[in-house]
Parts: sequence; structure tokens; C-alpha cells
Amino acid sequence: MLGDIKTEIERVSSLVSNSDMEEYVSGFEETFAEYCGTKYAIGTNSGTSALQLSLIASGIRPGDEVIMPANTYISTALAVSNIGAKPVFCDVTENDFNIDASLIEGLISKRTKAIVPVHMYGHPADMDKISEIAEKHNIKVIEDASHSHGAEYKRNRTGSLGNIGCFSLHASKNLGSMGNGGIITTSDDDVSYSLNGLIHPDSNKEIIKLVGRTPWRMDPITAAVLKAKIGMLDKWNEQKRAVASEYGRLLDNPNITKPSQSNSVKHVYRDYVIRSRDRDNLVSFLMKNGVGTSIHYKLPLHLTGTYRYLGYSKGDFPVTEMLAAEILSLPSFIGMTSREIETVSKHVNESVNLF
Ligand SMILES: Cc1ncc(COP(=O)(O)O)c(C=O)c1O
Repeated sequence: MLGDIKTEIERVSSLVSNSDMEEYVSGFEETFAEYCGTKYAIGTNSGTSALQLSLIASGIRPGDEVIMPANTYISTALAVSNIGAKPVFCDVTENDFNIDASLIEGLISKRTKAIVPVHMYGHPADMDKISEIAEKHNIKVIEDASHSHGAEYKRNRTGSLGNIGCFSLHASKNLGSMGNGGIITTSDDDVSYSLNGLIHPDSNKEIIKLVGRTPWRMDPITAAVLKAKIGMLDKWNEQKRAVASEYGRLLDNPNITKPSQSNSVKHVYRDYVIRSRDRDNLVSFLMKNGVGTSIHYKLPLHLTGTYRYLGYSKGDFPVTEMLAAEILSLPSFIGMTSREIETVSKHVNESVNLF
């Protein structure tokens, strides 16, 4: 299959050199909007830029507060603090690792302007509850869908569930370019208009003051690659789901907890994340047996040096902290064979007697 992709990328890349490059960006934007079920999609150079521009286009300014989970990649928070706004962290649930919607209202202040749910590891967050709270308090919902290309909540795709959806299209994602990339989805005419103005500031001094002099645009070669790949996204997601289902069948170790999926969602398993109270020993044992793993993420955001100035302490977000000590992403990739899944599962199961 990788051969097919390579041939397709080569075919499209050769076309790019002969064509109007910008059309590749608009072509991919239209395809992605249609895929997500939104009116617009606007390409950017990264997921972090997508978030940052979406916050600016939503009217968020220095001193405003934005609520987000404490368990996410640091870029979700950087997009907020980069524009002088304040990330306000919220604990997550043990079930799906996502923001705990029951805690959000307690964090809302006069300065709260948005909630950024992150659909962690490909499992959509509890969007009905989040949208209800946002509507009640007249604040925006900006989805961080960087892990959840093609995932569904009540049969609607992520990116179409809030006011705005932001995706990273980094090479490591379920839909990824050869390097960096990002995209924003929305059905709001005003937001789309503002985003286009922010991405193509021309010589508008006011806009340049807001966004700086960074070129935020998506690269046409990136767009061409992504347009070639998007037709395969559903098939790839099915493969990731099949890997997860096979792990679910084979993993049999009382010391680990397997990930669960709520009935109202279609999970796309960007990561297959288990929990173990002996996580660090398990990592070493698996490594000795030739199984590489990773941890997404080791340090909750409120305990990072970057966000020390916010004044949080250890113990503020007990579920996030517990997860940071227990979570482990097992190998899960397109083209992973049954044999490879069996080998990983066998070693995870064997570890039951070791610690
Ligand atoms: C949840 C989440 N949000 C935002 C980002 C930032 O995306 P990018 O690396 O494309 O800037 C990432 C990237 O890994 C991510 O995982």
C-alpha cells in the first residue's frame, strides 16, 4: 500500500510543478470541508497556527481566558498563551481521557471566551454537554481535532461539532502531510472571512499587528499531498480501528486497563493508549523485548515550567496526574500485521508475572 501512496504522491507532485500552485490549496480546502461537513476549510502551515488564528478570529484578546483539558499536547495551550490570553486547565475523565464536561462550569469567569475540547487520541469529547454550557454562557467552542481526523460524535465528524475545528496535519497524524500542515473548519461566514484576512494580511497594518509577520498559509505541495491522501483516510482509520479491536481481543492482563469507547462516538485511535500502575517497568520490559512504546503525555500541562506562572500545584487535577503516571501508547500503525499485534500483546500479557 505504501507503494501506491508513493506513486500517487509522485504523480501529484509532478502535476504541481506544471500548474497553478494555489489551486492545490483551495482544492484540498474544498475537499476537506466536504469531508468534515462544514461550509469552509482554511489551510494553514500547522495545527498550532490553526488554533492561534481561530482564537484571534473569534475575538480572543490578551487577558481573556480559554478553558482546555490539562491532558493535551502543549500546543493547545501555546496557541492561547502566544496571543496573550490565559489557558485555564480542566481535569479529564478516566473513561475517555477527555475534558470532564461536568467541571467546566465551575471554571467560567467573566473573562472566559472559549472552550477548547481536544478529542484525545481520536475519541471525541462530550460535545453535547460542552455545547450546552457554551451556549448558556455565550462562549465559543473551538475543537482541537488534531488527533481525530474522520472521528464521529453522534454521526457527525469532528471539526463540524463546535464553532470552529482545528486540525494538525503533521506527518504523524491520521491524515498527515510529509512535514507540517494544519487546517481550520467552520460553517460561520464571518469567521471564515476573518480567517482569510488573517492568513492573507496583504498590507493591512491592523491585521499584521494581530498576527505578526509569520506566513501562516498552507504550502501548495502540502495541499497536493493531502488531497492525494484524503481519499484513503476512512480506509486507514478502519485499519487503526481493526488494530485496536485486535488488541482488545488479545490483551489479557489484570494489571492493565484497555481504552474504552463511548456508544455515541466513532473512535479513530490515533493512539492506542493503555494504562498500567507499573507503567515504567512495563516500558522497560517491552523495550527489552523489542517493543517500542511512547507516552502521550508524560507531564500534565499545569506542572510544566512553561505554565508555572499560572500558579497551579500538584494535586490540582488528580485524574490527569494519575493518567500521566499510567498511560502508555502501544504500537499502532497502518499496515501493522496480525503477527505484530500478537507479539506486542504476548509481551504485555507476559509482564503480569514480572512486577
Ligand atoms: C492535540 C494537539 N493539538 C495541537 C497540535 C499542534 O499541531 P502542530 O504540531 O501541527 O502545530 C498537536 C500536535 O501534535 C496536537 O497533538
